[in-house]
Amino acid sequence: MSVNKEIKRVTTRTVQEMKMRGEKVSMLTAYDYSLATIVDDAGVDIILVGDSASNVMAGHETTLPITLDQMIYHAASVVRAAKRALVIVDLPFGSYQGNSKEALNSAIRIMKESGAHGVKLEGGIEIAESVTRILAAGIPVMGHLGLTPQSIYKFGTYTVRAKEDAEAQKLRDDSLTLQELGCFGIVLEKIPALLAKEVTESLSIPTVGIGAGQHCDGQVLVIHDMLGINKGFKPRFLRQYASLYDVMNDAIKNYVADVKSADFPNEKEQY
Ligand code: KIV
Repeated sequence: MSVNKEIKRVTTRTVQEMKMRGEKVSMLTAYDYSLATIVDDAGVDIILVGDSASNVMAGHETTLPITLDQMIYHAASVVRAAKRALVIVDLPFGSYQGNSKEALNSAIRIMKESGAHGVKLEGGIEIAESVTRILAAGIPVMGHLGLTPQSIYKFGTYTVRAKEDAEAQKLRDDSLTLQELGCFGIVLEKIPALLAKEVTESLSIPTVGIGAGQHCDGQVLVIHDMLGINKGFKPRFLRQYASLYDVMNDAIKNYVADVKSADFPNEKEQY
């Protein structure tokens, strides 16, 4: 008897339905084929090819330097690995802020050249025209509000956003605007948990939080952070599920020692 092992792809509709039945959405970043395979096999619903690749893959201080070509390279590698997850790709800084035509062209390049399933943009009402145009081309869009790292030089700090009334009100308004425009979900980054709760309850589309508390419809983390590959990064919102820096560092030290002592390779490890 043959068993049907067909894997059902998570879609934007799936995550919408998850919100409706109260099932939390799991989202993690990935930037390469090997890690994306592990993430997908583990059952993560959405893989985000985040522009945090600029930090964790390329070693930049901010997300600003990564280019559209580099994002497409990472995204195509992830798409080749993801059999079940919905793959969403960040539009990098400078690829959509200029005007809506440029934004659409960037989104089309990501979809065509990587095979991803949608894009994420940072910002609210300021990017409404771009979001509208991308959506009109049939490309799913995820919003991103709160701490938006592409604006780090405007904020000057990575601390919690929207603690003051005016910024909190703008975030409420922006979230409704993004929903009305047709975004399928919104990332809420580093905002007070009570504000995230209020926004989540006011929307029919799912919110996915990072440092935004337990009331969001889902959670996202940067994979290098949650696996403990980045040694020094331990913000309050991060739960570290492994200490891979130490595991990998020990393994590599053992390898170096085995090579130096001529223990590796042994007779069974040669032809
Ligand atoms: O680039 C990224 O990894 C992100 C997440 C932090 C949401 O945008």
